Amino acid sequence: MTENSNTDKPWGGRFSESTDAFVEAFTASVNFDRRLYQYDIQGSQAHARMLAKVGVLSDAERDIILEGLDRIGQAIAQGEFEWSVRLEDVHMNIEARLTALIGEAGKKLHTGRSRNDQVATDLRLYLREQIDAVCAEIRRLQNGLLLIAEREAETIMPGFTHLQVAMPVTFGHHMLAWFENLQRDHQRLLECRKRVNIMPLGAAALAGTSFPIDRHYTAKLLGFDCPTENSLDAVSDRDFAIEFCSCAALVLVHLSRFSEELILWASAQFDFIDLPDRFCTGSSIMPQKKNPDVPELVRGKSGRVIGHLVGLLTLMKGQPLAYNKDNQEDKEPLFDSVDTLLGCLRAFADMVPALQVRTESMRRAAASGYATATDLADYLVRKGVAFRDAHEIVGMAVRAGIETGRDLSEMQLAELQSLSPVIQSDVFQVLTVEGSVSARNHFGGTAPEQVRAAVARARNRLRDSGN
Ligand code: ARG
Repeated sequence: MTENSNTDKPWGGRFSESTDAFVEAFTASVNFDRRLYQYDIQGSQAHARMLAKVGVLSDAERDIILEGLDRIGQAIAQGEFEWSVRLEDVHMNIEARLTALIGEAGKKLHTGRSRNDQVATDLRLYLREQIDAVCAEIRRLQNGLLLIAEREAETIMPGFTHLQVAMPVTFGHHMLAWFENLQRDHQRLLECRKRVNIMPLGAAALAGTSFPIDRHYTAKLLGFDCPTENSLDAVSDRDFAIEFCSCAALVLVHLSRFSEELILWASAQFDFIDLPDRFCTGSSIMPQKKNPDVPELVRGKSGRVIGHLVGLLTLMKGQPLAYNKDNQEDKEPLFDSVDTLLGCLRAFADMVPALQVRTESMRRAAASGYATATDLADYLVRKGVAFRDAHEIVGMAVRAGIETGRDLSEMQLAELQSLSPVIQSDVFQVLTVEGSVSARNHFGGTAPEQVRAAVARARNRLRDSGN
């Protein structure tokens, strides 16, 4: 039997031999959960205040604990704290240091709690703050989109379905589509935040505690909306983290799609936009290259967060109530999801307002793909032709155009009239791309006037409710 050197561990009493060295490293989480330190300290300070309020700690003990924890927080922030893998995780590292600093009172801090409710509380405090940071970045990006949408309200580009030219749209309208995606992402995160902001502390290991704790008081101190209703649920639930990763994965799916567009648009074949040099890199072999690295990376990084979501769902699916050590595995995917999401949003919020639009090139592409064919069909319908017949007539006009290499607007009136006698010279107004977009002048439509109105409404929506 190995000699017992576990006596320095908070749970060492029950053990008669030391932890295997590999197992010690294998089970430790301190190398990644140390980033929860400030939330661990906040939680411990609120717990100490509550214990003093209900008479479990004296006021003097409370004060010395609060001060000791403050000092530990400062030491960690200044990089002067020595973390020990022997002490497993952030919770035991801080508690052990507290006792080393202040003596007896430090040993009383863990009264009426467990690391199980402690870690669940830390993680919720952390995530609440991160959600607020993510929401702020989403807003920054949305404001950038509104700027471009307003600036490019009249800029015409081809709208696509199946990546084939479909109908002309305004670039501003296209930007507002991404604004709406992000608007829903923001709403989802605020919904998720409600379920994050509930306090597990007091559930202790799983069954609560025999001390007369006041959980509502602790919840109030920590800014939680309320304590959790059920102690078993409190220590075992990680669905708040899964829900966040699902929100994060959706934001990144949106950014990934937007990235794909920017990458296509920046290519010589499209030539719709110019990404500023500061967001691109070159090639070490091909001197002419300017690569759209930032959108490519965002598109790539979205895969990590989708992976983390699936990883966390799988981590959870076989666990019986209540706490299981499996849950220690929730942190790295969650932390990486937060970091990845914040990084991608930041890159986009910086880059989007700096996009240079190649107006002429986009207009040319819209004017050359028979994008106004539907406008011609609608024109025929307004002159009394049934839509199906109109569709057929325009189809023949497009075929004639393709055969002779001309757009509809470049055809002779007589030629069009040979396909349908109802066509008059006013047809050329609807065949221009400008005529096409300004005709779509209804709520939610692509007309420049509607884009400006939508931008104004969007600004009010952001101002009024944060939603
Ligand atoms: N490091 C642990 C985690 O992250 C803290 C809770 C450990 N509790 C326990 N009884 N082993 O989940």
